[in-house]
Amino acid sequence: MLTIAIRAARNAGDFIQRSSENIGRLTISKKSKNDFVSEVDRMAETEIINIIKSAYPEHSILAEESGKHKGNDYLWVIDPLDGTTNFLHGYPQYAVSIALKNKGKIEVGVIYDPLRDELFTAERGGGAMLNNRRIRVSKQVNLNTALLGTGFPFKFPQHLDAYLSMFKSLTLDTAGIRRGGSAALDLAYLAAGRLDGFWEIGLKEWDMAAGILLVKEAGGVASDFSFNDQYLKSGNVVVGNPKMHQAIYKAIQPYVTDQLK
Ligand code: IPD
Ligand code: CA
Ligand code: CA
Repeated sequence: MLTIAIRAARNAGDFIQRSSENIGRLTISKKSKNDFVSEVDRMAETEIINIIKSAYPEHSILAEESGKHKGNDYLWVIDPLDGTTNFLHGYPQYAVSIALKNKGKIEVGVIYDPLRDELFTAERGGGAMLNNRRIRVSKQVNLNTALLGTGFPFKFPQHLDAYLSMFKSLTLDTAGIRRGGSAALDLAYLAAGRLDGFWEIGLKEWDMAAGILLVKEAGGVASDFSFNDQYLKSGNVVVGNPKMHQAIYKAIQPYVTDQLK
């Protein structure tokens, strides 16, 4: 199943890369405020689903652009292009994200960055890899020398004040914060030790599923804003190496509203 996930991610990634030469000619539509989609997202998704369906016709699928395809207990969770806004602007930070769940557990996670040809893979219990080399979360122990990743809650103005308070506190207490624009790559970078921590409000399951497995298999910790494991449902997530996860969790607690719990 990992092999199929890799094949699908690479094919979609190669297609996205070829399409990046024609960004100016793409038809872009708006799904909601600040939420855009192009035919590249849709065609990459169709490519991924075709590859999965031809290997596992009986499996279920949850894909960002086409929704649910009902089948058995195996569920493929697909973001064909994470970082669409970046892609549409020619800003080089986007990826394909594919996860496979079985009865609620994430079994396989693949994130492919077609620009850098970086393939992040994980299997439950089998560790996390970048281009077939083992990766681990960082050994950072101090928040004030840590580099964090985040995403802005641009679709959720009701959470902006809470978010900005978290941001202010962590800006003052860390070495730096990056907003890359692809949550999947943020999580992959965390797994590879390039970021020491990450938090975001309002993600979707397809933004996170593969990345969360990578983080855990690389020795990292993930939680929602109540120290539970309901992040795929709530969309609110804190991740880090064990020390940084605790430190970020503690730092944002004063600003976590009831709706964010
Ligand atoms: C987005 C990216 C971004 C995050 C957004 C997501 P998309 O995914 O992961 O980093 O902040 O919340 O929607 O729409 O480019 O697939
Ligand atoms: Ca996404
Ligand atoms: Ca997407």
